[in-house]
Amino acid sequence: MTRPAPAPHDSPYLLGASSAEHRRLLAQGTLLREAAQHLLGRLPLPAPARAIDVGCGPLGILDLLSDTVGPHGTVVGLDNNEQMIIWARQSIAQLGLANVTTTLGTLHGDSQPAFDLTHCRLLLINSTDPAAIVASMAAATRPGGWIAVQEYDWATWHCDPPHPAWDTLKTLLAPVFGGDVHIGARLASLLRDAAGCQDVRTAAHAHYWRAANPCQRLLLHFVDLFDERLRACGIDPHTLATLKRELGDHLVRPATVVRESLLVQAWGRKP
Ligand SMILES: C[S@@+](CC[C@H](N)C(=O)[O-])C[C@H]1O[C@@H](n2cnc3c(N)ncnc32)[C@H](O)[C@@H]1O
Repeated sequence: MTRPAPAPHDSPYLLGASSAEHRRLLAQGTLLREAAQHLLGRLPLPAPARAIDVGCGPLGILDLLSDTVGPHGTVVGLDNNEQMIIWARQSIAQLGLANVTTTLGTLHGDSQPAFDLTHCRLLLINSTDPAAIVASMAAATRPGGWIAVQEYDWATWHCDPPHPAWDTLKTLLAPVFGGDVHIGARLASLLRDAAGCQDVRTAAHAHYWRAANPCQRLLLHFVDLFDERLRACGIDPHTLATLKRELGDHLVRPATVVRESLLVQAWGRKP
């Protein structure tokens, strides 16, 4: 199923594996939990089932999959980052997920079709070759099984009242982020064209934030993480610092509301 050797789409995760990213991913997972439950509730899986979470990070949806496949089913958490797998193992132990194991590596296009459900969340948006990942997910899925993906589309990521520093920073960040920040908008066609799925369906979820919520400042957090890449594109450090200060002042105002990126879910059946 997996091999340690790099696949063509096996590139490093640009947001890193710091303890801050560990915390952010777990908090984000809690936020997206209800949406993930909604998605899993729509997939008619056999009992027992075998599922995989590709790019599971420190937990992904392993706990929800563990419930979904039932005590006699099995779940694999797959990630190509060693630190993420260490954290995933910690989560599995803490939550007592007896039917979940982990694998360090990535899927390949010639994987054996072993799973009734092959899932990824927020993996394609960081990837330069989402079609190859989706094709490898299809290869790992049994005929009649399901491929499900959950990815953001930055189109709805917006602050109200609008602020020019928001628009400028978001525009600067998009091309250095490492993948297509609008990938959510084309998940259905990816599943059809790259994975050969039938019965493709979609759903979407969004959140709003105010100053008290750490998610309100996510754009600024990403700007800090991608500081080096932004400078390498020729962005003047003084201009960047001014934009960050202006946006920070705006986001902390009680009246400022941030609408999150749209979480798009798409799922389809392998013929
Ligand atoms: C944004 S995190 C999302 C983690 C998790 N899916 C979640 O929703 O919390 C993306 C994860 O995908 C992993 N990753 C990136 N490319 C991968 C690949 N080609 N194969 C397996 N894992 C990959 C990264 O190491 C990282 O842990």
